[in-house]
Amino acid sequence: MTTPFPKSPTFMTIDEPFRFEGDLYDLEVEGQIPAELDGTFFSVGPDQAFPPKLGDSNPFNGDGFVRAFRIKDGHCDLQLRYVMTQRLAAERAARKGLFGHYRNPFTDDPSVKHLSRAVANTNVVAHNGLLLAMKEDAQPYAMDLQTLETKELYTWNGQMTATTFTAHPKIDPATGELFGYAYAAKGEASDDIAVYAFDKHGKKTWEVWFKSPYPGMIHDCAISENYLILPLIPQVMSLDRIKAGGIIFQWEPSLEQKYIVIPRGGEAKDVRVFSAPNAMPGHVVNAFDDNGKLYLDLPVALDNVFWFFPEAGGKFPPPGSFGTEVTRWCFDMNDKHSKAVPSVMSRMAAEFPHCDDRYVGRPYKYGFMQASDMSKPYNPERAGPIMGFFFNTLLTMDMSTGAATTWFAGDTSSTQEPVFAPKSATAAEGEGYVLSIVNRRAEHRSDLVILDAQRMQDGPVATVKLPVRLKYGIHGNWLPTSR
Ligand SMILES: [Fe+2]
Repeated sequence: MTTPFPKSPTFMTIDEPFRFEGDLYDLEVEGQIPAELDGTFFSVGPDQAFPPKLGDSNPFNGDGFVRAFRIKDGHCDLQLRYVMTQRLAAERAARKGLFGHYRNPFTDDPSVKHLSRAVANTNVVAHNGLLLAMKEDAQPYAMDLQTLETKELYTWNGQMTATTFTAHPKIDPATGELFGYAYAAKGEASDDIAVYAFDKHGKKTWEVWFKSPYPGMIHDCAISENYLILPLIPQVMSLDRIKAGGIIFQWEPSLEQKYIVIPRGGEAKDVRVFSAPNAMPGHVVNAFDDNGKLYLDLPVALDNVFWFFPEAGGKFPPPGSFGTEVTRWCFDMNDKHSKAVPSVMSRMAAEFPHCDDRYVGRPYKYGFMQASDMSKPYNPERAGPIMGFFFNTLLTMDMSTGAATTWFAGDTSSTQEPVFAPKSATAAEGEGYVLSIVNRRAEHRSDLVILDAQRMQDGPVATVKLPVRLKYGIHGNWLPTSR
């Protein structure tokens, strides 16, 4: 590499490129890893392997880098691997960045025109014996669950013909069926949506195509027992803009949030669209339906949170500023007006939620999240400036009341997305552990913390000490060995 990485928020402090693949065997543990924890905590995030071709880049453009914590009998091992995408292989061969702006193929080096732009950096989901490394602007990559060897760009053996697939599929806990969707499903900036389901053996069970109300971002989805919901974000794509070398998304403050609802197994004519005032729907906690009423829980940010996708005039939120309302939407399927009715559960700046996976799509009680609590102290002299996404608190929220029990990670630390691991397959809902990577920013190092989900205020029951720094990741999941 003959060009240094830029000194920009994408590549500074804890987000300096890491780029080191390897294995760490039997990590040092403070406290005690609960004996009943038996499984793998998979997560993934961007780690750009080469300096951007065009000088700088946004944080979503980095190469997918997988972290797998293998936990058994109170011990923990760690595997660190890149997803070996066509893109990374090409850039390694050329020893330089070849791909241009985020989701803008018109800015790529001509030599990579025939290659997938997939970076597979947003989520890792186990299904049908494969680990799927996913990002919403391309098809996923399949990896080996044990070795993390990258197998192939994955289309469910040709059953999935959309050019993209979400990073946030949902798996029905009763059947093992995976529900997902593609937006921009016929190429960048197109307003085509495709919805899919695949059974636990990977056989397609549902496919339906329809048009989006506007060509916006659809980052996450939800399922209930009878419906699938797609929250449409007022971040709007433009083919003309990317053809001119610009940014694909632009925040549109005049557009409503839309919640696209379709009965599971339904056809395009069954699609309903519910509306709510302009705001930014975030990640799904869970959804359920009851007697013709459909409920969706998710944090809603009152403004755009992506500083790298500003408004037309260039207005953008300062990095580190972040406010959300954890909201329960009600969609009355008998209401002809199609208004989404909100109830605000909590005004904590909470995001990156998980529920207990055994309750996906069903009435449930607990959400597990991280929050950005700026009332807590932060020591920039020791920890460095806050330059990107910043969270410092882990929490369990009672979704019937919005009340939360929290753990603050400290004035030189930041948290990553927490996942939930039940104590056993038959444990009561929420009985189990919250796992999160914590960045020790003053030490340029990370830990894995494990907390009792029902006693968050007590702090970690175990802290797995890492001799390395793990960059801010995006999403992950707990996979019990028994599943
Ligand atoms: Fe996400």
